[in-house]
Amino acid sequence: MPIPMASTELAKFPTRKVDAHASLELRMDSDSSTVLRTSGLTERYPSGGGEITVLADLDLEISRGERLALTGESGAGKTTLLYLLGGLDRPTSGKIFFGSIEMTSLNGDALGDLRNQKLAFVWQQSSLLPEFTALENVSMPLRIRGVSGADAERRAKDRLTEVGLAARATHRAGELSGGEQQRVALARALVTEPEVLLADEPTGNLDNQTGERIISLIEELHLRHGLTSVIVTHNSAFAARCDRVLELREAHFAGATMKGRSYV
Ligand SMILES: Nc1ncnc2c1ncn2[C@@H]1O[C@H](COP(=O)(O)OP(=O)(O)O)[C@@H](O)[C@H]1O
Ligand SMILES: [Mg+2]
Repeated sequence: MPIPMASTELAKFPTRKVDAHASLELRMDSDSSTVLRTSGLTERYPSGGGEITVLADLDLEISRGERLALTGESGAGKTTLLYLLGGLDRPTSGKIFFGSIEMTSLNGDALGDLRNQKLAFVWQQSSLLPEFTALENVSMPLRIRGVSGADAERRAKDRLTEVGLAARATHRAGELSGGEQQRVALARALVTEPEVLLADEPTGNLDNQTGERIISLIEELHLRHGLTSVIVTHNSAFAARCDRVLELREAHFAGATMKGRSYV
């Protein structure tokens, strides 16, 4: 699994204005409540001369506005699934839909556009550019899209205020605490007004109390921005606060809990 370093983060943003790709129809079906859907999703990796199946024939529907927690032991395939849902990787077989758009049939440019316009990512380890200020980090996705400096800065400041870090705007990202860096990462993820937030163990490197604050913040931002969120977490208390919990085990969904009730 590639480590999401700052350079790959940057690679997710198009170097041209999004409008140049007007051919890609990104509107959702107006009556569709399913934002992301997989059908027969399968991912295999070569392993020691053979192959391992990390995800086997998964059918998943994620509803608009849902907060879905993905759990499972280390190596269960959580990050793999998140990468596939986010269009950062392509599956061995099976289909992934964003609304009515089949992501798995899009070419690289179109998939990149969809990712940039609709999806946002937060990782376990900071993917901020440490030498740049918090404000510069949050502005960057907009600047790369061609938004003017003043406009990008204004929108970035709004997001930093929202995560409680307006006073840290001019601090270098590398000098911020782990919790503050995750707040900046959330501000950066949301500055482009995405529809879907994909978070891979966003509290994995934080102490419990800081992790709790980040989870509460994600909950608040999820509601305020009308997001659909998929959150990978090892923390069962955090997972239980989501609308649904899916556990990955041996390449399948082994357990599903919805609003506290067990289904599988
Ligand atoms: N690019 C890759 N090549 C080969 N094996 C991989 C690759 N990425 C992940 N894996 C393997 O797939 C399995 C699932 O990995 P991952 O999705 O990172 O699990 P999790 O996030 O649940 O810890 C692991 O056995 C891992 O070693
Ligand atoms: Mg992982």
